[in-house]
Amino acid sequence: MDRTQTCNARLPAHHPPGGSPSYICLLSFPSLKLEQLFENNRAWSRRLTERDPEFFRKLSQQQAPKHLWIGCSDSRVPANEIVGLDPGEMFVHRNVANLVVHTDLNCLSVIQYAVEVLRVEHIIVCGHYGCGGVQAVLENREVGLVSNWLRHLADIREKFSSELEALASDDRARALCRFNVVEQVRHVSQSTIVRTAWEQGQPLAVHGWVYSLKDGLLQDLLETPITTAGEVPVVRVPESRAPAE
Ligand code: CO
Repeated sequence: MDRTQTCNARLPAHHPPGGSPSYICLLSFPSLKLEQLFENNRAWSRRLTERDPEFFRKLSQQQAPKHLWIGCSDSRVPANEIVGLDPGEMFVHRNVANLVVHTDLNCLSVIQYAVEVLRVEHIIVCGHYGCGGVQAVLENREVGLVSNWLRHLADIREKFSSELEALASDDRARALCRFNVVEQVRHVSQSTIVRTAWEQGQPLAVHGWVYSLKDGLLQDLLETPITTAGEVPVVRVPESRAPAE
């Protein structure tokens, strides 16, 4: 079967009639192997159902996660997987460089739903070493539209410029990852949603973690989670003694 036939069979509504010879059908692009994803999905569904025949029925009726994860979009940091949680156990928001921007309605809406409706007890901001966003900012690299988003991270680099300049250049990226997490913890804690929850006595802890791509391990950056308004995040390991990636 040639590519055109494959495309016509699978995507009649989207394939241009008599499409030009240069038209590339993504579904038949060999490296994407999308069929494999559906096969994987069926196997995954089967595995979970074998473990608990009621799993999907129960999950479809309600979700009751206790955690909200705010992490980077990086494909190497899959939230549920690295902490061993099943579907239904963690509410997740991800964006480039795990930023919590005060006016980002997307992120704020996730936080609001998680806190007010799901009543999660933990908000985890998780950065990761080897973050492309952090690297781009440190190198002052122009990366198109996303540079505007990363401008928030560039502000953090400037805020901590003296601390960063005191470090060997190899350590700066890891340090900026950590500074970024702590800043985003601060932003979560300053949001009206979280402050209101605390004022109402709702138990809610904000955590700052960092993940290493090299060994798959998480590190808690804060001495204690933030649980009240006005609390200042205290970093568990001072920058000068922080372990290597
Ligand atoms: Co990243």
